[in-house]
Amino acid sequence: MMSGSLDYRIRPFRDEDGEQVKALYHDEVGYSPMSMHRFIMRSSLTRPNSIMCYIVFGVGIALAFVFGNPRSIRAAAAFAMSIASVLFFVVHRWQLSVVTRSFAKSIATDPDFRGLSEWYGISRHSDGATYCSGKSGFWVAELLDRELGTGVIVGCVGLDANSKQGTHHHHRTAQLRRMAVSWKMRRQGVGRSLIESLLEHAKEVKLEVIELQTNGHCCSAVGIYETLGWVAYETQGASGKPWVDLWSIRYRLEL
Ligand SMILES: CC(C)(COP(=O)(O)OP(=O)(O)OC[C@H]1O[C@@H](n2cnc3c(N)ncnc32)[C@H](O)[C@@H]1OP(=O)(O)O)[C@@H](O)C(=O)NCCC(=O)NCCS
Repeated sequence: MMSGSLDYRIRPFRDEDGEQVKALYHDEVGYSPMSMHRFIMRSSLTRPNSIMCYIVFGVGIALAFVFGNPRSIRAAAAFAMSIASVLFFVVHRWQLSVVTRSFAKSIATDPDFRGLSEWYGISRHSDGATYCSGKSGFWVAELLDRELGTGVIVGCVGLDANSKQGTHHHHRTAQLRRMAVSWKMRRQGVGRSLIESLLEHAKEVKLEVIELQTNGHCCSAVGIYETLGWVAYETQGASGKPWVDLWSIRYRLEL
């Protein structure tokens, strides 16, 4: 596949790709300059609870000046209000960061990452080429541009028919998981090509519904899924703490 100067192919996962796939997912979810973590931290700056912090801080400082005498109880209370808003802002961002990075760290504990080939049903032909032998599958985007380095994995996506994460537990339903594209290769159609391969396989094995869950702050993920036809059906808190403004959206696509 060619996109501008970019030459890449989508192919089923091989065991040799394992370390690159783990590193890619870890970085693009938690650590790269355009990771899901960065999207969430940036988007949170303009969310209602951050705006409330800015307002409370400003009002507190203004009142402290209006009340004049810094030793007065009213001035101290106004100043405390500002300090409390700063504390909430900082603790909230710290919690957002911890929860989001825990998604990236899931590669150490989540069962699929312990053996991607086994979990996603990847088999090997005698000539070494791999294929998806069941309903599940895992694909990688491999960069072929010799100047930049052949054989570099720049994207991945999994189709998981084993997982029971969604609400529609049906043998013709599977989950799209582990979607990531290197930040250096974004907006060049790599993500779309990965999903097209996944959908082609899903239709071949007669799946009827593909579900997925993503973070509501992450405009790139929301953008690609909605562009490709997924429809949101449920929104829920993703941090386990109601005061942390992190939510996930469940999507489904009928084939
Ligand atoms: C989501 C992600 C995989 C998209 O990969 P990509 O290769 O950049 O996507 P594509 O270039 O194929 O884009 C396909 C379409 O998705 C949408 N899209 C992609 N990035 C977008 C963004 N930042 N904002 C809005 N829409 C976006 C667009 O509609 C785009 O079509 P267009 O370029 O013709 O407008 C990538 O941004 C990523 O790895 N993000 C971090 C990890 C992550 O969030 N994973 C999802 C976990 S559920």
